[in-house]
Amino acid sequence: MSQHWNELYAQTQDLYGTAANLFIQEIADKIRIEGKTLAIAEGEGRNILYLAERARQQGYPFSAEVWDYSDVALKHLSNKAEAKGIKLELKNVDLTVAKWLSERYQNAICVFGHFDTETQKKVLEGIRESLLNGGWFIGELYSKEQIKYKTGGPKNIEYLYDPRCILDVFGQDHLHHFYVAEQERQEGELHCGKCHVIQFAIQVMK
Ligand SMILES: C[S@@+](CC[C@H](N)C(=O)[O-])C[C@H]1O[C@@H](n2cnc3c(N)ncnc32)[C@H](O)[C@@H]1O
Repeated sequence: MSQHWNELYAQTQDLYGTAANLFIQEIADKIRIEGKTLAIAEGEGRNILYLAERARQQGYPFSAEVWDYSDVALKHLSNKAEAKGIKLELKNVDLTVAKWLSERYQNAICVFGHFDTETQKKVLEGIRESLLNGGWFIGELYSKEQIKYKTGGPKNIEYLYDPRCILDVFGQDHLHHFYVAEQERQEGELHCGKCHVIQFAIQVMK
């Protein structure tokens, strides 16, 4: 599967555009995303670069670790980060077999990171485990409803998310924002038009 992603990223630089996902931009206006931040399935890094630049402009502490299993995407991200003078820790991690350490990060973000149902569960539990008390899990994903919209995301419904799977793991935490509904997205050629998403900004309480 990483080969599929490597081919896509090799054909098109900035596959999802250069702008950060709109929800990430909106939530960053409301919550200060500072400290050690993990970005998973972050591809060419448009979201983490946005958060890092914002922290630099506003002068608060920020460091980031990025996990993705596409070498091509990570290389593109490394070049962009270097050009902007932003330091990131980039790791080739396959999330189907990722090892999660306890209480490592202040924030974790996931934007359109889609996996089979078993991996979704492992990743959600891993993220919660790896967040510090009071840390934030923030992101936007396509819901299972998205299969009907045909405006982006996996064609296999198993890879889309049921909001209840997120609540199964984070239901006892503070749901600052949890939204399941339509949005309009224009992110490169692959995310175009009205779509059905799950947005979340959840503060874990341990
Ligand atoms: C739809 S792209 C989203 C990229 C980025 N988050 C963004 O919003 O621009 C999904 C990303 O997930 C990565 N990915 C998919 N399955 C993965 C896995 N099992 N392990 C690590 N990365 C994975 C792909 O390489 C790709 O970069």
